Amino acid sequence: MKISITDKHVYDIQSELTVIFALDTKELLHEGILKELGFKASQDEICYISEFKTLYVGVEANEHDLFRSAAATAIKTLSKFKYTSLKLAQYDINNKDGIFSAIVEGFILGAYTFDTYKSEKSEPTMCEINFSSRNIEDEASTVSELEDILLRAKILAIATNYTRELVNTTPEDLFPLKLAHIAKDLATKNNLECKILDEAALKDENMNAMLDVGRASRHESQLIHLSYKPKNPKAVVSLIGKGLTYDSGGLSLKPASSMVSMKLDKSGGCAVLGIMKAVSELNLPIEVHGIIGAVENMIGGDAYKPDDVLIAKNGMSIEVRNTDAEGRLVLADCLCYAQEKVKADYIFDYATLTGACVVALGHYTTGLMGHSTKLKHSMSRSANNTGELVGSLPFNRFLKKQLKSEVADISNISNKPYGGAITAAMFLDNFIEKENKNKWMHFDIAGPAYVESAWGYNPYGGSGAGVRMTVDWLSNIK
Ligand code: BES
Ligand code: ZN
Ligand code: ZN
Repeated sequence: MKISITDKHVYDIQSELTVIFALDTKELLHEGILKELGFKASQDEICYISEFKTLYVGVEANEHDLFRSAAATAIKTLSKFKYTSLKLAQYDINNKDGIFSAIVEGFILGAYTFDTYKSEKSEPTMCEINFSSRNIEDEASTVSELEDILLRAKILAIATNYTRELVNTTPEDLFPLKLAHIAKDLATKNNLECKILDEAALKDENMNAMLDVGRASRHESQLIHLSYKPKNPKAVVSLIGKGLTYDSGGLSLKPASSMVSMKLDKSGGCAVLGIMKAVSELNLPIEVHGIIGAVENMIGGDAYKPDDVLIAKNGMSIEVRNTDAEGRLVLADCLCYAQEKVKADYIFDYATLTGACVVALGHYTTGLMGHSTKLKHSMSRSANNTGELVGSLPFNRFLKKQLKSEVADISNISNKPYGGAITAAMFLDNFIEKENKNKWMHFDIAGPAYVESAWGYNPYGGSGAGVRMTVDWLSNIK
């Protein structure tokens, strides 16, 4: 899809079709016809006037995420038409409210389809989008400024779609070694350093918790370490991702219905890959390390068991009481690895860690946890900037006690049923060194990472949760 900007007024652009975002039904070009057709300009409502080759899409308020959604609706609608080019005016002079970039993102996010496993592929018909730099009142934005914003929005949305595609790929096609190859490919294309640790190397690193989780799988576990190292970076950031290419629950086997969709359990790792892609394409002046624990949690004679005691990389002993709480075991070792290898200013981990987080916040919202209120606030701002939703879940010393074990230093599950998203994060906290406590933040993306019923600009499947807000946050480091 080619997206371009011209200084011409929208009426003077040559395109087959016009898209108009309508905040209201008044003062629209085809007000009379729209009224006749009962168009109310409610959010994502569409009205196509074939006589004038104009598609109207309703937008409820002047907020960037509503435009993102409306643009996605427009492009999805047009995928059923035969037109190959469209034009539209500017809705936000010089992107003051982030509306121009939101529309660009909406078009790219909305055009995403996953058809790898379909015999019939959906061929995109719309291939040219022409923006005017002028709004309908003929006030002009600076074309060069818009072009920079366009480039950035494209990078962000394409990285989100890249993450979606990886998440959607089946566990048979995307197992740990394959994820490592994908990371290597990204490293080659985007000039990143890439180090892969196979099981022998993981053993040398004493990463036994991670190794034990993957023991029953026919696929070798892999640790992926990508680094983006610009000269004179303003900060160093480590991003750690849970990359469970499949989570059957292990011997504490998931019920059949809960196992469906557990290919999603690599979403944290795939988000880290998407972030690395965007950061390197944007040439951000930040050193970023992406560390992914790629493992498959399966059953078998060699499987790790409830009652086992695992020794993590930092020497802590962990009593396994439920093999389905595997993500925290993999992350424990990856967090230790990250802190040992990289002296970072910020340490973020991304994981589809708990069903409890979905119970607490619903399907659309990422759970943010950590000791630093400041960090949580700044990430919440970045979520607002990019149309992602986050909610902060608070730690407390009472929940911490629920992880006590009679036989080991800590248990991998809480001894009480509630507050599971927080106790999981507090488990991870045991693997964060004292001097790093305020640098660390945990993202539980179990809710938004995988969409089972399409919402906004997210179709069925992987959503790419975490990518856009994190890149926005990294872009704002002073
Ligand atoms: N990968 C799951 C969490 C999950 C559940 C993600 C639903 C997305 C949707 C995780 O490994 C898991 O199974 N967690 C258990 C923890 C429990 C055993 C303490 C859970 O949430 O039930
Ligand atoms: Zn699990
Ligand atoms: Zn899991």
